[in-house]
Amino acid sequence: MKDYLKIAVLLLFSGLLAGCEQSLSYSHDVLPILKMHCIECHTGAGQGLLKSGLELGSYEGLMKGTHYGPVVKPGDSFTSALVMLVEHRVDASLKMPHNRKSRIDQAQIERLKTWIDQGAKNN
Ligand code: HEC
Repeated sequence: MKDYLKIAVLLLFSGLLAGCEQSLSYSHDVLPILKMHCIECHTGAGQGLLKSGLELGSYEGLMKGTHYGPVVKPGDSFTSALVMLVEHRVDASLKMPHNRKSRIDQAQIERLKTWIDQGAKNN
């Protein structure tokens, strides 16, 4: 296939996908990802909570952020610290999940980002 055709097909598909994008929910989409990858260290006596102050077991904790401030900026996933960390756009010592080889998978990262871009609502 010619390159311009490939590009046209790609554009068409991404347009379709964007059109189908549903409104994501904290309780159905976001919390299960945090439970799977984060809360063992970011609740209770976990090191992540103790060291950073970030509690990820509740909406309030997630929006409150760390001792230094919020990690989620509603409407702006790109500059949300939480996303920078899971996408590893930060210093290697701060990658999350901390000290794990497995990063959270891309589909899950996309869901977190979409939820933040849709306003990070408690829905
Ligand atoms: C194995 C334990 C562990 C897991 C799992 C973990 N964290 Fe952490 N997290 C930590 C520790 C420890 C710190 C404190 C790091 C420091 O200050 O050196 C931290 C700090 C953070 C911070 C604050 C970083 C900063 O700017 O100071 C964020 C945001 C964060 N974690 C998000 C997450 C997210 C999101 C997940 C799940 C994808 C996750 N963490 C999973 C241990 C963990």
